[in-house]
Amino acid sequence: MSESMQGLQRTNKCTEVSAKNIDEKVTVMGWVQKRRDLGGVIFIDLRDKTGLLQIVFDASTIGDEGFAKAEKLRSEFVIAVEGIIETRSDETINPNLKTGEIEVRAHSLRILSEAETPPFQIEEDSNVKEELRLKYRYLDLRRPDIQRNMIMRHKVAKITRDFLSNEDFLEIETPMLTKSTPEGARDYLVPSRVHPGNFYALPQSPQIFKQLLMLSGYDRYFQIVKCFRDEDLRADRQPEFTQIDMELSFVDQEKVIEINERLMQKLFKEVLDVDIEIPMERLTYKQAMDRFGSDKPDLRFGIELVDLSEIVKDCDFKVFSGTVANGGSVRGINAETLGNLPRRQIDALGELAKTYGAKGMAWIVINEDGTYKSAITKFLSDEVVENMVKAMNGKPGDLLLFCADKNDVVYSTLGNLRLEIGKRLNLLDDKVFKFAWVTEFPLLEWNEEHKRYTAMHHPFTMPMEEDLQYLESDPGRVRAIAYDMVLNGCELGGGSIRIHQRDIQEKMFEALGFSKEDAYDRFGFLLNAFKYGVPPHGGLAYGLDRIVMLMTGSPSIRDVIAFPKVKDASCPMTEAPGTVDEKQLDELGIKIDIIE
Ligand code: AMO
Ligand code: AMP
Repeated sequence: MSESMQGLQRTNKCTEVSAKNIDEKVTVMGWVQKRRDLGGVIFIDLRDKTGLLQIVFDASTIGDEGFAKAEKLRSEFVIAVEGIIETRSDETINPNLKTGEIEVRAHSLRILSEAETPPFQIEEDSNVKEELRLKYRYLDLRRPDIQRNMIMRHKVAKITRDFLSNEDFLEIETPMLTKSTPEGARDYLVPSRVHPGNFYALPQSPQIFKQLLMLSGYDRYFQIVKCFRDEDLRADRQPEFTQIDMELSFVDQEKVIEINERLMQKLFKEVLDVDIEIPMERLTYKQAMDRFGSDKPDLRFGIELVDLSEIVKDCDFKVFSGTVANGGSVRGINAETLGNLPRRQIDALGELAKTYGAKGMAWIVINEDGTYKSAITKFLSDEVVENMVKAMNGKPGDLLLFCADKNDVVYSTLGNLRLEIGKRLNLLDDKVFKFAWVTEFPLLEWNEEHKRYTAMHHPFTMPMEEDLQYLESDPGRVRAIAYDMVLNGCELGGGSIRIHQRDIQEKMFEALGFSKEDAYDRFGFLLNAFKYGVPPHGGLAYGLDRIVMLMTGSPSIRDVIAFPKVKDASCPMTEAPGTVDEKQLDELGIKIDIIE
């Protein structure tokens, strides 16, 4: 039976009372965390958003009827209690609890809602399977760790809004039902009833609209906005996610970077009380790849890649010399102190290397006495081995790993092995925050499958002035005025200075293999708009979810999204996506014909 709360007003949240309020009368409301019966006395931990408060029921205060009601209480019942704040007896003081010195002696109790036994206990650090947690997400969201994540997310959004408003940015909404926006993923489509056979696309980002807002003279725009991308999910990817999106007029890269460094500094100070040093470290794309094998390097530890191509280019080991002769490279990393790794674990690293496309992973263990254990030293002269070890700063007890291949395979293999080694050596402290900007990205990347270039960032990104001359003759060589903000091996955000000249934009579409008709068909409204006076502009977008994920030290982006999707892009709670009525489909002029 549920009672109403009529006539009652909550006076305090659970942890808003303290030893200062002794003898005061309060009315508190919340969920029963736990009930303990001590024969004649019942203790309840009452829980709300703010935390726990102990309630004591004894028959002499609450009366027999009230006590009988208290005996019925079970976990997750919702109750209202009127009572008096008292100090706890010395032996029941709980120093781990904010309200650990006090309790409320109940004078009346109302059961506002009963509860069935939940499928899992509502507690911190649950080890319940995520699948079950997400099916009952409304219960999972009651857990204090997830609640803290939600609260931190709110703070990040609020501070961002305040900061950007103070910097003269306007928050302007852009459409969700729109045309395809070019960020390189698949679109989510929405069928139109009024225009049968036609579809809206949900935005992959507000990119085109924010550029149009600059053209319209709004000078500085931002939006905390949902974006939709139909791509494979990972720990840091969701099909719908939230961007902190911004665009600025009459700025260069330095201005965008300067404002965003101050934004990050403020966020980390106010949310975590962590001081971020600015200006942040900067790496060009080439430096990031050469040193860390990644365009989102984790700078919390060293173990940098070493290029050994010069040393091995004439050696007798054909795997090495042949690779260099064919235009590839041979590089290595020093897994310092891991020379004692058992052989099967070294082999496991080799298997891991293969998942990144490597044909193999060679290795040398430097024994404590300075001799080597390796399957490849027999193919190499002593001099080459010595030079390799020296170049990698190899010391007794170290394990050196090598990969010979095309550059992109070498980078991704060693870049990922480096992360694995960092993990094994416990170098990935989630309380340490190492920011960097990666700049001078290639403008285009070659798509082997479609035999054409695609934009590495998006087609509106400005080429670097000194490389513009190669846009037609050698497009792969052109670098872009594009920048990513990287934190602990994660791409937090990315942006660029945009093309604001119609002729360069048309050349860019040409380099991307669009005919003039195609380009106008897809982006005609933008190209036409560019006829009417365009300010130079640029911007950036962060993944808000990723920022909060890193701030909270969460292993998955799902932990910081109230109602996330799982790996196959479905929602275990609502069971979306689902089928729809025949009638709805008829109205849309859609016939389902699933080809297995
Ligand atoms: P980009 O595509 O790099 O740039 O996206 C910006 C940031 O959004 C986050 N992000 C994601 N987060 C979660 N799940 C996803 N599926 C996902 N995809 C992207 C990342 C990324 O850095 N319009 C441009 C920005 C600009 O040029 O101003 C854009 O969208 O943190
Ligand atoms: P093989 O003579 O082919 O058995 O190779 C000898 C060693 O070189 C083995 O440990 C292989 O894993 C390693 N190896 C093979 N191909 C490569 C490669 N492309 N890069 C680095 N090591 C390799």
